Amino acid sequence: MTVQTQQYPYPQVIRENGLIDTYKDFAPTHVIPEKTKANEIQLLLNKITSKPDFDPNMKFDASKHIIFKPEYFKSTKTFTLDELNINKTHVPKVTDFGAAFPFPLLSPEAVDMILYESFQPQIIDKYARLPNLATNATRLDFHIGGHAVSDGQFTNSIVNSKEIEDIVSTFFGCPMEHIYNSECAHINASLATTDEKEIEKYPKTEEEIKSLISKQDAGDGDKIPSSLGLHYDSTTVALVIMLDLPEEAVGGQTTIITGDEKTVRVPEPRVGYATMIQGRVLKHLASKPVTNHNRISFVNGYAASGAHTLDNTALTSTKPSVLPRARYDLFYKDWVEYKFKRLEDHLKYVRENVVKDYEEGKGFDQEAFVEKCINIEKYLTKCYDEMECVNNPPYPPPHFKMAYEDLS
Ligand SMILES: [Fe+2]
Repeated sequence: MTVQTQQYPYPQVIRENGLIDTYKDFAPTHVIPEKTKANEIQLLLNKITSKPDFDPNMKFDASKHIIFKPEYFKSTKTFTLDELNINKTHVPKVTDFGAAFPFPLLSPEAVDMILYESFQPQIIDKYARLPNLATNATRLDFHIGGHAVSDGQFTNSIVNSKEIEDIVSTFFGCPMEHIYNSECAHINASLATTDEKEIEKYPKTEEEIKSLISKQDAGDGDKIPSSLGLHYDSTTVALVIMLDLPEEAVGGQTTIITGDEKTVRVPEPRVGYATMIQGRVLKHLASKPVTNHNRISFVNGYAASGAHTLDNTALTSTKPSVLPRARYDLFYKDWVEYKFKRLEDHLKYVRENVVKDYEEGKGFDQEAFVEKCINIEKYLTKCYDEMECVNNPPYPPPHFKMAYEDLS
């Protein structure tokens, strides 16, 4: 039996719509060039392994590697969506949390281990690709991801850390858990070039740098050079941890778009610091430094946890035809495992509560049950309605470019 595609306006994956037509073969058109692997990636690995105390077999120890202190909940600047003037959202917000400015999270040793595991040559071949539709991207801008579970024991421990989940939950205002493997341990890399000719293209004087930054801030957010253009995340919350950004680097922040369509750069996080945004409803981009410096960030997706609720994660910006680094087979295995586990837990919760209410003499609340069923139907539809075999609208979708006020 074939899937009925007639009801969908874009049944084919085509390049003209900004999509990767080789998504089933892991986008061979977007492999990381040999020059990048041999020069800049090797340089990064050498820098880490030449540190006298570096131990490639180090195991994760939360008491040593997580440097967050409870007082940071008070000292960290946070913004509600209301404070960012965001009144309309394209999907319902989960809480009123908008963004948190940088706070210390990981020790330098932990950062080095994530970099070391993620930039190994075999990991780059197996899990990294150049981005699709990035603004002014070069051979040095790429994504890595999906490697943590099977090829990054330390990185995976960070993803699974209960301590980090608690920090995210407290900032966000409800219990949160990390989502599926392919949408955790995502790395946005923009590396400094070692090529003399390429270096020439960067601004040299402080004046040139300042004028470039102010030109970007004054203009359209979508024109800011980035490894991922203006977008909403497909996950509820993104926790972004900085892995590399030298102090001399200028630019390279997460830039968020406020309700009045202004760009706000989240202050430069130091290495090991994290920022958090409700990226599902907050328009943003990760800008590249305007100077010739590395910017490497580590992004983990989180969603509201608990059997009583369902997550609002989507495929929009993360499906393999949009995000070349997502390996088709691995990505959808992770997606189905996550979404159906949530669904199973929720179905069990609803069923058990109906039985419990009966046994406690509370009777059957038909309206409440119907509401649950409608939510479950919508959730199940979201599990497949953006899959490539049924629907491939042009990317980016219109709402990525729409003013918040124009959202229905
Ligand atoms: Fe994002």
